[in-house]
Amino acid sequence: EKGGWSSFMAKEISEEPDAVANTIRGRVTDGLVHIPELDGLGDDVLRSIDRVLIIACGTAAYAGMVGKYAIEQWARVPVDVELAHEFRYREPVLSPNTLVVSISQSGETMDTLMAVKYAREQGARTLSICNTQGATIPRESDAVVYTHAGPEVAVASTKAFVAQITACYLFGLQLAQVRETLAADAVRALVADLQKVPDQLRDVIASGERIAELAHWMADTRSVLFLGRHVGYPIALEGALKLKELAYIHAEGFAAGELKHGPIALIEPGQIVFVIVPSPRDERSLHAKVVSNIQEIRARGARVIAIAEAGDVAVLPHADEVIRIPLASPFFEPLLAVVPLHFFGMELAAAKGLDVDQPRNLAKSVTVE
Ligand code: M6R
Repeated sequence: EKGGWSSFMAKEISEEPDAVANTIRGRVTDGLVHIPELDGLGDDVLRSIDRVLIIACGTAAYAGMVGKYAIEQWARVPVDVELAHEFRYREPVLSPNTLVVSISQSGETMDTLMAVKYAREQGARTLSICNTQGATIPRESDAVVYTHAGPEVAVASTKAFVAQITACYLFGLQLAQVRETLAADAVRALVADLQKVPDQLRDVIASGERIAELAHWMADTRSVLFLGRHVGYPIALEGALKLKELAYIHAEGFAAGELKHGPIALIEPGQIVFVIVPSPRDERSLHAKVVSNIQEIRARGARVIAIAEAGDVAVLPHADEVIRIPLASPFFEPLLAVVPLHFFGMELAAAKGLDVDQPRNLAKSVTVE
């Protein structure tokens, strides 16, 4: 039931903090990660795998891309992400030491299911990250980690997305513990930061009104670009997908480092560009690089809406609008940065008078090819 909400999507965005909290619940013991459902796979398997391959479609694949950055960094195991429909038709090479992790809200997406079946036939281990109890994909997998986002009704995935990312973080941290690639103290610090995210998300949700104003001003816009870097890159892709599917607006997400390799040619006066700005506290100086990207597109007339950490004053002179997110560990910023983009897609669709919960031509669960 929608309750007092204008749409299921509005309700489900409001549930993003709970989706994260509920996905963490029961999986932290003494400050370390223990996902009981992974016991079935066993620590020996987690130690012996030499590759993680994440397969998914749509928004779930973007969650997997965020997961890739975190899992690879923490557990020092190569992680690839592949769209299930591309994976399944090219006879991919897998070994018993490959762990294939599928991500699916519904657990019924045909391409993802067929990819999992293929992986099993090839002798790979399979883990399903799924939001729907007893769905087909978890039943076809060796183990399942459920995301506890609760039922998602709106076609556009929101709370399931943040829950999927959270499940990837937990999996990455447990893998790092078992493989001893992170010290216990480092894991504890990350877990403590992750546990703060639900409250931080509640703060971000309070920025929804400002986003609604922006969206209503932009109701006539024909194209919106999204730029991000590192874990902000999949968030740029997610922001663009939401705008396509909900508001039927041409939207593209780019890795900010690609700008000079082509996309900057798209910038003309008035072009709206959302930029997910990395934390200035990040050691890799990605913040400075992205601020420099903002200067470059601004000089060509782009209208920049920056999503930046609280206290990041360096972006202020360069952006037309700054949406603030609270301070978090850089790996966890995607959870916070995506919420304004979910709002934006929903509000722009609403401003155009479109059906937010049931966009044209789309089904909630894609059970055909
Ligand atoms: O149920 P799944 O997570 O497997 O669905 C995957 C995609 O179909 C889904 O995320 C789709 O891209 C959403 N409509 C995006 O909002």
